[in-house]
Amino acid sequence: MSGIMRIGRLELRVMDLEESVNYYTDIIGLEETGRDGDRVYLKAWDEYDHHSIILQKSDSAGMDHMGFKVRDIYELEKLEHRIEQFGCKLTRIPYGTRLAEGQAVRFEIPTGHQMELYTEIEQVGTGTGIINPHPWPDGLRGIAPHRLDHTLLTGDDIEAVTRFFTEVLDFHQTEKIVTVDGEVMIGSFLSATNKAHDVAFVKGPDAKFHHAGFYVDNWYEVLKAADILTKNEVPVEVTPTRHGVTRGQTVYFFDPSGNRNEAFASGYVSYSDFPTITWTEDKIGTGIFYHRRELVESFSKALT
Ligand SMILES: [Fe+2]
Repeated sequence: MSGIMRIGRLELRVMDLEESVNYYTDIIGLEETGRDGDRVYLKAWDEYDHHSIILQKSDSAGMDHMGFKVRDIYELEKLEHRIEQFGCKLTRIPYGTRLAEGQAVRFEIPTGHQMELYTEIEQVGTGTGIINPHPWPDGLRGIAPHRLDHTLLTGDDIEAVTRFFTEVLDFHQTEKIVTVDGEVMIGSFLSATNKAHDVAFVKGPDAKFHHAGFYVDNWYEVLKAADILTKNEVPVEVTPTRHGVTRGQTVYFFDPSGNRNEAFASGYVSYSDFPTITWTEDKIGTGIFYHRRELVESFSKALT
């Protein structure tokens, strides 16, 4: 069992802060929970912590960092030691750097992405509360996902980043994509929980962001998400379909800065002793888009 409880937050760089806030609140349906300087903090209605998405005003799009919430300071200390042993340099993000957060440790993984681990963040509660809750709150807007679910990132050395997440952070690898001869890993799906993935990597340029997935209940909610996108003229990349990998249901689209988002439903439950499922590169189209069985050109090219 990993000391990491879950994906906790994602800080995204956006170019037009107000336009982005409008998109993430009205269309995605997140709730704004705070602002300081060039950052706006948001959460989904079913999340307890103060924020899961931070929008940071910048002159280019992409991911500033991804943060994982760790069970307690003892687990965090253990992980810090192992991260340094692996050869990654840790820096400390002091208390007060960002709204509602305690301190965090930050480090660069083998694909060049910035990651943080932390234990402390203010809890503000969900839209339904914890006493005799109704299944969903009134007044939801847009796609209204339950939570931030996962990210997909690109990088060159998929083997090394997989080793880092499995050996250092105790993730398990649920699925992988390999070349037909089995020699080279070109995709890796990693879970710290029993979700099909919390973070995934595909071969591509280092330090790039592919997408953030937001969790919705089921196939109909994916369809409805696509309706909302068309109503609001949001650029959609792939209309509702199923993934072979994770078995999830999906629609892909872009935020105003070109960061790819996904409304993602279902996906199987995975336990840490399950064997890793393998997809071969000749079936990658089916693995990613189960019905059309081929990739769309933008899917590997549009990165932020
Ligand atoms: Fe995804």
